[in-house]
Amino acid sequence: MIKDKFAPIIIAVDGPAAAGKGTLSRRLAHFYDLAYLDTGSLYRAVGWSVLNAGGNPRNADEATEAAKNLDMSGIESHDIRTAEIGRAASIVAAIPSVRAALLDFQRNFAKHPPHFHEGKVRGAVLDGRDIGTVVCPDATVKLFIIADLEERAKRRWQELTARDAGLPLEQVVEDLRRRDARDSGRDTAPLTPSSDAEILDTSKLSIEEVVARSIRMVDRKLGIGSSPGETA
Ligand code: C5P
Repeated sequence: MIKDKFAPIIIAVDGPAAAGKGTLSRRLAHFYDLAYLDTGSLYRAVGWSVLNAGGNPRNADEATEAAKNLDMSGIESHDIRTAEIGRAASIVAAIPSVRAALLDFQRNFAKHPPHFHEGKVRGAVLDGRDIGTVVCPDATVKLFIIADLEERAKRRWQELTARDAGLPLEQVVEDLRRRDARDSGRDTAPLTPSSDAEILDTSKLSIEEVVARSIRMVDRKLGIGSSPGETA
């Protein structure tokens, strides 16, 4: 297939919750001059808006309506990074009509990254669960980031205890276990690596090592010989 040389570079970063996708994606976006979309925040915003309206995330009509009317402006003023919203996000994310309602926005972001046409960015990094498989199956580079459940739970627990000091680690482990099962077991766009994804296990790596290895993988795909320095 002939690729359009003026098309944006797309880096897809998928993987389970708390594997380190967000930090890595932001660093890659900075390093390669790319726009960044955290697609999990879209599902979190849908979960938040259903709960905020007093609804039930399992109710497909309510969740789909929230996804169709999603307005991300001002969402940062609400705390969508809590365990409760994470849970609601993974429940609404299993509803096919919710996924369908969010698909165009994500594809449009990848096709026309903000500021791409002004030459300010060269493309986009999108992170999530189904970027390489469903949202951008033609992505330039696909990374699939994994880490042991215990390690991911420890990282997420450290983040969450900044807000909720009494949160037990075991609860975070259990929450992630359930979320993994829901994300991998759903019928529509389950969490699974694309056959052409590079898999990176971050369990025993520092963020600097994860970034350096990912840059090497991306450079290889982009046909760039050696990385200019290892970190972003
Ligand atoms: O990445 P984050 O933990 O913020 O995502 C919240 C939830 O949104 C995930 O557990 C998953 O169920 C859902 N999600 C998804 N597809 C994406 C991104 C997130 O199903 N592309």
